[in-house]
Amino acid sequence: PAVLREAYQAPAFLISQVALDVEIRDEHTVVRADLNIERQRPDIPLLLDARHMRLQAIAIDDRRLRAAEYEVSSDRIEIADVPQRFRLATTVVIDPEGNRALEGLYRSGPMLCTQCEAHGFSRITPFPDRPDVLSRYRVRIEAHRATYPVLLSNGNPVESGDLPEGRHFAVWEDPYAKPCYLFALVAGDLSCVEDEFVTRSGRPVRIGFYVDHGNESRVDHAIASLKRAMRWDEDHYGLEYDLDRYMVVAARDFNMGAMENKGLNLFNAAYVLASPDTATDDDYEAVEAVIGHEYFHNWTGNRVTCRDWFQLSLKEGLTVLREQQFRTASRASGVARIEQVQTLRAQQFPEDAGPTAHSVRPDRYVEINNFYTPTVYEKGAEILRMIEALQGPGTFVEGVRRYLHEFDGQAATIEDFLAAQESVGQRNLDGFRTWYSQAGTPVVRVEDEWRDGHYRLRLYQQTPPTPGQPVKRPVPIPIGFALYDPNGAELELPPTQGLVREDLILIEDEAMELSFGPFERRPVPAFLHGFSAPVRLDYAYTPQQLALLVTAEADPFLRWESVQELMILAHAELVDGEPGAIVGVLLETLQRLAANPPEDRALLAWLMSLPALTMLAERQARIDPEAVVAAHQRLKLEIGAALCGPFSVWAEWGSTGERGVDRRALSNVALDYLAAQGTSAALELARKRAMNSHNFTLVLGALNALNGTGSSQRALALAACRESWRDDPLRLDRWFSLEARAIDGDVAASLQILLDDSAFTWANPNRVRAVLGAFGTQNWRAFHRPESYALYARLLLRLDGTNPQVASRLSKPLLRWRRYAEPWGGGMHDALMTLSAERLSPDLGEMVTRALDGGH
Ligand code: ARG
Ligand code: ZN
Repeated sequence: PAVLREAYQAPAFLISQVALDVEIRDEHTVVRADLNIERQRPDIPLLLDARHMRLQAIAIDDRRLRAAEYEVSSDRIEIADVPQRFRLATTVVIDPEGNRALEGLYRSGPMLCTQCEAHGFSRITPFPDRPDVLSRYRVRIEAHRATYPVLLSNGNPVESGDLPEGRHFAVWEDPYAKPCYLFALVAGDLSCVEDEFVTRSGRPVRIGFYVDHGNESRVDHAIASLKRAMRWDEDHYGLEYDLDRYMVVAARDFNMGAMENKGLNLFNAAYVLASPDTATDDDYEAVEAVIGHEYFHNWTGNRVTCRDWFQLSLKEGLTVLREQQFRTASRASGVARIEQVQTLRAQQFPEDAGPTAHSVRPDRYVEINNFYTPTVYEKGAEILRMIEALQGPGTFVEGVRRYLHEFDGQAATIEDFLAAQESVGQRNLDGFRTWYSQAGTPVVRVEDEWRDGHYRLRLYQQTPPTPGQPVKRPVPIPIGFALYDPNGAELELPPTQGLVREDLILIEDEAMELSFGPFERRPVPAFLHGFSAPVRLDYAYTPQQLALLVTAEADPFLRWESVQELMILAHAELVDGEPGAIVGVLLETLQRLAANPPEDRALLAWLMSLPALTMLAERQARIDPEAVVAAHQRLKLEIGAALCGPFSVWAEWGSTGERGVDRRALSNVALDYLAAQGTSAALELARKRAMNSHNFTLVLGALNALNGTGSSQRALALAACRESWRDDPLRLDRWFSLEARAIDGDVAASLQILLDDSAFTWANPNRVRAVLGAFGTQNWRAFHRPESYALYARLLLRLDGTNPQVASRLSKPLLRWRRYAEPWGGGMHDALMTLSAERLSPDLGEMVTRALDGGH
């Protein structure tokens, strides 16, 4: 049964006040709810969502209802006849210990905790589980003191005390009305690390980070990140925190990254804990990003929430954008934007070109959890970035503030946000409404012509059809733009029709034409500075032009982009045969870069890195995984051989005590090329580093470099790490994932060894992702075989029985079967067919159905 955006109806009942009493017992938990309800329309039955619970009592205004007065089904309770205004009291019994789906109330290690977005609250108590019902909560928690010394919920603590039989209680009150998906509760035996932040208007905020005992020393970075985020939001958007407490709880078992529950964030421990010997520099970045993201939700998401789940990007796209702005501001290097584009292209572009393509504001869903996607998040942020580029940063901030002011304490829509932006700027944003409603990545094709000293450009935009949307309309696309003389000097451009500014083209229709000149020589064009729009640019660059842009361009993104394009062309040359002219130009370009490197060593590391296999595969008409992998390996060898001089120097940086994120990144890239050469010097260097370094970035870099080599050094290093990481789940995940990525030969047997490992468990999403996720997305050699697809489908089915959300997400590597050549496409299709014959959860079921039905 699909939910349709068009079918939205305002809530029939509003609930002003929620009083919850949660009584935690060893065998089960009893939840009593007392709701103040007011009917909004006449003659309408009260429908409460209620799943996985046993109803014990139900009363209206203190009168217990007789069985004939209500109806209970597997997912809801219906009461036909209710007064205009009344108190509803329910008592239910739930089973957190048996909850393997990790939504609602569930056990994670030493605690019980909640995950309510999108529909977890209706697994805790009967309630209209929709984001446009906003209520004030008072929550009483009661549990055994020794087992659950810490009792937390949203807002402020108002009362606590002891009870008979070693039990105790705590009462929390949240002064802000909120939708039920922002409810949170934690009861457990945790350590608290405290800190304080004073807001710019002088409000002291108590910061509390709750972690497993023994992890206290691993939260400094997360706390510092939170304080930076709090300050940044004040400085950049003028937004202050609004409660006396900000709590973050780290859970071992969590389906996604983190959750922005009001005043009480729940985090996957992987995005909280970090120390130099247990987390990589990338992990540090990820912690700062996710901490910032959840904090920024306090305004964009919590103070103003979404009217319905079709508006999800209203909070997620905007919060991703804010997170990106924050991260870019806090870093010296120019690579922040490169990382964002890389993520978008590796994750969102394939989605947009596949059977599960959907618009940023979707029109229908079966399971909303399937729509927490790179499209809703990352593409949503890109749309806002384009609006920001056209409005100007100051006006954009003003628009955000106008929107927050106007809808504070309410549930809003994407349309509300656009209207607020329109009201502060000069511009009609209609074209962006199309961006929100239309799936698929627009392609901008560029043709140029050089005649009589004049340079003419023709731009055409076209969005390919997507499932359910055969015909597309043009959208506004801001395209960063520059022209270079063949000697590398940037040409001054006079005001020209079609240029919004001297460095920005705005194409709004299907086609547009621009003309420049006179020039003495044919210029070289550069497009999409800073990746100014989430489109594919199609212009037939020659290798020489790309080589020129690598040095001529000042924009770090475009420099990287030019090398990547050159590498993609070189890869295509190797798919077809032996290294030729293009590989030649690439190697020269890289050698020139090495001889004359940019100051920004993090940028240099990116410039030297090969495109991911997915990016290379995307360029093939039909993907032949074997050919993609073989040419990729060959290209790696060619580059490693041509640059072994500089690579040897950089690789040593990891050993000579050279500090800094940037240098470590470059050292790891260099070591990876060298180890691929298979020389014993390189393998020994990597082995020693993996086994002896105290810096986890270098350890993991060395292990990654060894992992593809099948050498004895690899075996030694992996065994040693397994042993020393034994008691740390987060590092053990890294070991599992390295092993899953290295599987080759007898795939079924090797995979089974990992699944039979005493440390493997289906109950922990991080562990499952470390094995299945790494195998499905990062081990092309072993995964892309028809028998592996069948095996993978069986594992998904196993997982779907306990954790549908994670199973659904992990199904992605099988979905795009139409893009693959034979026998791979057919093999994926067969695997999907086997799955579709089983009883699947709505989550996995929807993905499989879309993959089998949808075009592309
Ligand atoms: N709102 C959370 C975040 O962005 C993610 C929640 C994901 N929930 C889900 N059911 N998939 O930060
Ligand atoms: Zn979010």
